[in-house]
This record gives sequence, structure tokens and C-alpha cells, in this order.
Amino acid sequence: MKVLIEAEEIREAVEALGQRLAADYAGKTLTVVGVLTGSVMLLADLVRAMNLPLRISLIRASSYRGAATRPGELEVDDQLLDDVSGRDVLLVDDIFDSGRTLDRLLDTLRGHHPASLRSAVLLWKTGRSEVEVEPDYHCFRIPDVFVVGYGLDHNGEYRYLPHIAGLDDQDLGEPSDLGRN
Ligand code: IMP
Ligand code: MG
Repeated sequence: MKVLIEAEEIREAVEALGQRLAADYAGKTLTVVGVLTGSVMLLADLVRAMNLPLRISLIRASSYRGAATRPGELEVDDQLLDDVSGRDVLLVDDIFDSGRTLDRLLDTLRGHHPASLRSAVLLWKTGRSEVEVEPDYHCFRIPDVFVVGYGLDHNGEYRYLPHIAGLDDQDLGEPSDLGRN
């Protein structure tokens, strides 16, 4: 495992994003919607960096990979989502990889009739997108490596790490059937 982004670099980038968002959403009725589970670190740090009156809500995405299901099978659970109709919504997720998760979540949120809808991610993997949409805000572009830490997991492990680390093939081992986002 190799450290790709130090905790201090993350802190600075999230602080800068928070200030940018605070300026962009000044005077608005913002609801920040975090995607469980990967976004929890970013969500907590970002809202405190924004220093703006806002609401926090949650949505869950689970992707199922493995022999039993088609690759990329995605389940969205919006039972935890509060009423966001007429509100300005910012969707916050850990990483934009193929973009399918963000694309689906934006679709789901649109169905709840927000006044406006944008997205922010910590990491944006280069050259992997399979969708039209791009994140409106991001902190870091990264190469195509599997990363963990600061909320990101591998089979539920490593979310607690304060930095972002890259896993090599040896660390990755066998793929699991169920991946919680
Ligand atoms: P996408 O739908 O392909 O953009 O994938 C997004 C989801 O897959 C993220 O919310 C993560 O849960 C997971 N994911 C994608 N790449 C990585 C990675 O490098 N490390 C950990 N999780 C990842
Ligand atoms: Mg995940």
C-alpha cells in the first residue's frame, strides 16, 4: 500500500472546496446530500469548511459485483433522504470512477424536484468515465489505481485511514460479491 495523498493535502483541498462552495451557495437554501458510506469523511469535513447555514441528508448506493450479478449492478436507497423539493442540493461522494453511481444518484435526486442540483467528489479518476455527466466540483484528479482511505474502502476495510493510499494487485486479492459504496 502506497500513500498517494497525505492527510494534510486532503485537509487543504477540502478547506478550499468548502470556501468555494460557501461563495457559490451564499444566500441559498442548501442541502448537502452525502452518499453512504464512502462520503462520510468528506461530508463531515466539507460542511464544517463551508461555514454556511445548510442541511445535511443521506442517500445510499450499493454496487453488486461478481459472478452472480451483472457487473455494475447498482442499487440506490433513498429512504434516508429528507424532503429536498425546492431546495438547492449538492450531492457529495467519495469518487467518480465510471460515473455510473453519480449519474444514477443525480437521476434519483432529480425525481425529488430540487430547485438546483450539483455534485462534488473528493477524487476523479482520469479516463474512466462511461457517462455524459461530470462532477461539478472535485478536489483531486487521480490515475486509474484502486484507492482506499478517507472513507474509501476495499471490502469494507481501510475507510478509517486519514490519507488516500493506492492498493496494488497483491493487496486487492479476490474480488467480493457485494460492494457497499
Ligand atoms: P463509479 O460508479 O464507477 O463511478 O464508482 C463509484 C463507486 O465505486 C464509488 O462510490 C466507490 O464506492 C467505488 N469505487 C470506485 N473506485 C474506487 C476505488 O478506487 N476505491 C474504492 N472505491 C471505489
Ligand atoms: Mg465502495
